[in-house]
Amino acid sequence: MSRLIVVSNRVAPITEGQPTAGGLAAGVMDALKEKGGIWFGWSGEIVPAGAAGEAREQALGPIRLFTVDLSRRDYDEYYRGFANDTLWPTLHYQTALARFDWGEFAGYRRVNALFAKAIAALAAPEDIVWAHDYHLLCLAEAMREAGCANRMGLFLHTPFPAPQVLMTMPAHAELMRSLCQFDLIGFQTDIDRAAFADYLVREAGARQGRGQALHVFGREIRTGVYPIGVDVAEVRAQALAPARDAAQLRASMGGRRLLISVDRLDYSKGLRQRFAAFERFLEDYPSARGDATLLQIAPPSRSDVQTYREIRRELEAEAGRINGRFAELDWMPLRYLNRGFARAQLMPLYAVAQIGLVTPLRDGMNLVAKEFVAAQDPQDPGVLVLSQFAGAARELTAALIVNPFDMTGIARALDRGLGMQRGERMERHADLLRVMRRNSLARWRDRFAADLAGRKQGIVPVQ
Ligand code: ADP
Ligand code: F6P
Repeated sequence: MSRLIVVSNRVAPITEGQPTAGGLAAGVMDALKEKGGIWFGWSGEIVPAGAAGEAREQALGPIRLFTVDLSRRDYDEYYRGFANDTLWPTLHYQTALARFDWGEFAGYRRVNALFAKAIAALAAPEDIVWAHDYHLLCLAEAMREAGCANRMGLFLHTPFPAPQVLMTMPAHAELMRSLCQFDLIGFQTDIDRAAFADYLVREAGARQGRGQALHVFGREIRTGVYPIGVDVAEVRAQALAPARDAAQLRASMGGRRLLISVDRLDYSKGLRQRFAAFERFLEDYPSARGDATLLQIAPPSRSDVQTYREIRRELEAEAGRINGRFAELDWMPLRYLNRGFARAQLMPLYAVAQIGLVTPLRDGMNLVAKEFVAAQDPQDPGVLVLSQFAGAARELTAALIVNPFDMTGIARALDRGLGMQRGERMERHADLLRVMRRNSLARWRDRFAADLAGRKQGIVPVQ
């Protein structure tokens, strides 16, 4: 029997109920907790150079967690450097924020090789390796170099940018050659998959194979679109369970209307533009003053990367300015919280709101959008206002779709959402739920795992 070995930069927090801010942790956790398996990743610890790289095992329900520590140099070059200061902005079309260094790229490959060595030591030849996200694009190459012939797939949780954007990153050719050592590469949307194929066809002479396969660098790789979902029933059950925070929030609203936004504090999430759009809304629709309140939950993320420190400072200043401008003795327009919430507390908060405001400048999927929809009362649901540049917008077409750079457009959508009749809200919500039930988290996991194992009809197993 082959086992599933999941590999991601970070593994879930060991303590139950601790917040997991990030779509990947939420998705993988839900995907593994049903059937069990092995989950391998960084422990989150930084240790002296000599002590790094040794894998430790812990149990998390049916999941066997294996973690390794990193040295300061590994962390700086791989995680803080190439992954988060080069790849992340590039993959999110923020080329002006990307900083590149060949030494950090070498460090990224070194840590991918360190992971590969540890995984090679625990993998049997028939095991299937499923890697996640942009931290591990060179993992398959390193595992092949370590002598592993296992079937290996990568699912990219982020967007994949247009070729001209990727090519602003000087190591694009090396990175793409390495990435193509995976057997299956999965994307959130058809747009991401097309951009990937486009790069390989134009820049590496790839030929299209059967289905969504590509012949490139002397091998065949398969690609596919696997939109990640949420467990709709579970989110709704969590949203309905009694929760102290939601009760407090509801009481504090005193009948006023609530808009909710929940994001890691990341420049790709469009928070600055969102604050500006909310300000435009208060300017253009004076009747909303003293009534509509935006609750922005944004736990700090990657705080040791300069660009993240800057966006945090900017947002603090903007929140203060907007509140200073519009607040009244008994009403604060913007509640800005820099903290995480356990899922059991977060899901009921969504259910209190009349609007879910999700406006990333670019996002692979955006699970918050799906969680907001799943948490609503189907008989009296809130309205989702969603950026056209979130992967979720490819599926959630019954949301009010906005351009995150268009302040006036967002303000108009907020007014429309808050004034929407119950019948239309119910219809839109039912449409959204239908799509989300079809593209569930279980389906995402099962389709990717089956394609990777080559079990799906018509798929030729990779030799
Ligand atoms: P990303 O993966 O870029 O962070 P997603 O929207 O896809 O973005 O996923 C975010 C996940 O993290 C969601 O499951 C959400 O519930 C969770 N999350 C985001 N912010 C918080 C927070 N403040 N507290 C707890 N969980 C959060
Ligand atoms: O895809 C989003 C992501 O990078 C995930 O890999 C991760 O779970 C989340 O953001 C949080 O980021 P970090 O691990 O850098 O704190």
